[in-house]
Amino acid sequence: MEDKLKERIETPMVQLTYAYAMDVVQAKLRMINADLTEQFSRQVIRSMSARIKKTDSIAKKLVRKGREVTFEAAVDTLNDIAGIRVVCYFCDDIYQVADAVRAQKDLKVLKEKDYVKQPKKSGYQSVHLIVGVPVTYKGQTKEVRVEIQIRSFAMDYWAELDNQMCYKKSAGQIENVERKIKAYSDVIAKVDNQMLELRRRIEKM
Ligand code: GTP
Ligand code: MG
Repeated sequence: MEDKLKERIETPMVQLTYAYAMDVVQAKLRMINADLTEQFSRQVIRSMSARIKKTDSIAKKLVRKGREVTFEAAVDTLNDIAGIRVVCYFCDDIYQVADAVRAQKDLKVLKEKDYVKQPKKSGYQSVHLIVGVPVTYKGQTKEVRVEIQIRSFAMDYWAELDNQMCYKKSAGQIENVERKIKAYSDVIAKVDNQMLELRRRIEKM
């Protein structure tokens, strides 16, 4: 079953379709960044990265979700085969970017998760938007979904280290690890907000 998934997902056309959808969204985000940069007279997006989910991660996720490990199940149920990560300087920038994405008439926001207002139990913070991009090929138009993760520089620092140490790993079983990583997320969030306050005071001058 898994071999068949690999065979179908790793064809140039499938990969190119997701790459195309990601490129469209990235181009949009660059325009949004230029617009916000002009509006606020400072850089808003610090960095952006994009990736297509590897076949083995797709298979693992389907198993975890209790789905069949097939190409159809992957394309139908997974929202993050194509993913873009947007890292902003400050935590309020996240909503500037998210609002701007929502305002795009040629992108459809299909789903939103706000883990900044409501952090995950792990301490993870980010705003996730699932957008649908129409892709036309050989006279057929399909809506391809792309996950956009938007977070601050500080949130990204936490998420990157959590990813190395804990996320989808068994380190959580070690005593206090879960509690500590969550506590550090709170500390980082506090500093993130203090930096924002500082910026606002400076801007008022
Ligand atoms: P995944 O199977 O993890 O993709 O979850 P999901 O599709 O059910 O959605 P969810 O919103 O929980 O997470 C989507 C993505 O957010 C993940 O693929 C990770 O990139 C990121 N993420 C979610 N939770 C955590 C976490 O606790 N730590 C870290 N580092 N990243 C997380
Ligand atoms: Mg994911």
